Amino acid sequence: MAKKKSSAKGHIVPTTTLIKQPAHIAAHARIKSLAEYKKLHEESLRSPATFWARMAKENISWIKPFKKTLVWREPHAQWFVGGRLNVSANCLDRHLSTERRHKAAIIAEGEPGDIRVITYQQLHTEVCRFANVLKKNGVKSRDRVIIYLPNVPEAAIAMLACARIGAVHSVVFGGFSAAAVRDRVQDCGANFVITADGGFRRGQPFALKPVVDEGISGLEQIRRVIVLRRTGQTTHMQPERDVWWHEEMAGASAECPPASLDAEHPLFILYTSGSTGKPKGLLHTTGGYLLGATLTCKLVFDLKETDLFWCTADVGWITGHSYTVYGALSNGATTFMYEGVPNHPQPDRFWDIIERHRVTIFYTAPTAIRSFIRAGDQWVKKHDLSSLRILGSVGEPINPEAWRWYYEVVGGKRCPIMDTWWQTETGAHMITPLPGITPMAPGSATLPFLGVDPAVVDAKGQPVKRGEQGLLVIRKPWPSMARTIYGDAARYKKTYWSEIKGCYFTGDGARQDAHGNFWIIGRVDDVLNISGHRIGTAEVESALVSHAKVAEAAAVGIPHEIKGQALAVFVTLKQGLTGDDALREELRQHVAREIGAIAKPDKITFTEALPKTRSGKIMRRLLKEIASGNEVKGDVTTLDDFNVLSKLKAIED
Ligand code: PRX
Repeated sequence: MAKKKSSAKGHIVPTTTLIKQPAHIAAHARIKSLAEYKKLHEESLRSPATFWARMAKENISWIKPFKKTLVWREPHAQWFVGGRLNVSANCLDRHLSTERRHKAAIIAEGEPGDIRVITYQQLHTEVCRFANVLKKNGVKSRDRVIIYLPNVPEAAIAMLACARIGAVHSVVFGGFSAAAVRDRVQDCGANFVITADGGFRRGQPFALKPVVDEGISGLEQIRRVIVLRRTGQTTHMQPERDVWWHEEMAGASAECPPASLDAEHPLFILYTSGSTGKPKGLLHTTGGYLLGATLTCKLVFDLKETDLFWCTADVGWITGHSYTVYGALSNGATTFMYEGVPNHPQPDRFWDIIERHRVTIFYTAPTAIRSFIRAGDQWVKKHDLSSLRILGSVGEPINPEAWRWYYEVVGGKRCPIMDTWWQTETGAHMITPLPGITPMAPGSATLPFLGVDPAVVDAKGQPVKRGEQGLLVIRKPWPSMARTIYGDAARYKKTYWSEIKGCYFTGDGARQDAHGNFWIIGRVDDVLNISGHRIGTAEVESALVSHAKVAEAAAVGIPHEIKGQALAVFVTLKQGLTGDDALREELRQHVAREIGAIAKPDKITFTEALPKTRSGKIMRRLLKEIASGNEVKGDVTTLDDFNVLSKLKAIED
């Protein structure tokens, strides 16, 4: 329904038919009108220190109050200077003296259908005991701990236990390979790993512990591996190094006072792809991150005491960190965790869960929505989803068709959709509607959250005109921003704070419409968004060239109906070798071993040479057009060898 109108100056300003949110949500929302939001947003930008100090006092329990809200020496921020607090105490202890004490903190369903309900009191006990297990095994404040678990409550327990004693967790998504585990262990200098025998996926147990064993083999730095028994698979335990979770917990005391930590104490490192072959370990700290996660979770999802909040992201991603775990628990909400895939045993697993547990807030990704559309409405319609009141979307732009389906078929036009734009780096929502009040624009994340100052600019940092595409930047620091790339402050500065002077560079392209709504176009760097996951083309390329038969490789994203983008790679083999389907499969498996199954190329084209500029840069733009089956348009004058292009086109045709 996008319309275009000409502005006075003759520029094309795209607008869209806005959809009003259902009125009953606004009646009970915390921010009651768009005018109130606008006023608050203006105030928050006019006096950020005053605004954030107020939010920090209202939303966080401090052991010692902070003295100064922000010390900003670009690109380094210190928020809530002098303040002391503990994240696990904010997520647990502070609820124990309230009516929430025996409320469910986590309701979890394993893929086989096992259900667990853990109250705040019980979660507190488990976290304290596990924190004592960590201490007994030698974990100290600031030590890095790798968590490589399925999406089960113990993942949250392990994260909170680290936070309780000041250890720094780095959760690695269970789908990543041994090589990826090894890279992360080495990059952050971890001495400890928490894992499980395995987890359940598509009705089968899959193994995790052997992946860890392979990943850390020969690494002297690992002192302990703590292993959760989840599937009961036969598991090799290395004497001296490996211990069972349940055996350690058996004798552990439930007394463990939360450590009093500086507001800037490191909380976690989370790795994400960038435009080089090496993933970046983004470091988040205690006070600012907790405030961002707490405040956005409360306001964007309109959290109420009686809600059951389900964020479908795995804890291995930032969404799982900020919403399944920290934001939900810090607000005293009941958070729902599901271990497995959406389509097991049938394509209605999610709808079945919502109906049985009476989920009220449902937060998922466009790629999942598109696969539900494909499975068919009948799977949704079989279920009573009337408990739902708020829907959320994250990870990539949601196409307007998927938006409408989500709104109409899943939400029955009763539930507003919070399309939340943010990143691993931002820690919390940055551009998002607010419940009840922001007019919804299907496909747009709409307006900035409080205290957030985004702009769309050109390469020189000048704001572009409304309706024109440019680079999305954030002009002011915010509390939940990542503080650095662990061990690489220079890369942090170069990636985020050098591209556009004085601004945080998001790596996304965007445009703003006549209503002020932000429309995210997608990445402008060499990062792909596949099923809502960030995959750096350079990472895939370096995985491919590590294969003995590969001389050179180039990876590009092409449009894909379900995944948003699919991964297409062009491979040049070493002298005298020829490619066939067997080698294609071998290379796919090789990438899965090097990175993880999420990075397996969808399409592999063997080519004698890659199109390059005269200075030797691969012209990915041309490859993208070829792989997408499009005509090669645009400037090819910098191409070194025109024959390459015609040969490539011949292969594709
Ligand atoms: O390109 C944007 C896209 O996902 C990127 C961030 O990826 P990651 O750090 O893995 O975090 C994903 C979960 C927050 C962004 O740079 N993205 C995320 N949410 C949206 C989005 N693009 C458009 N609309 C969104 N709602």
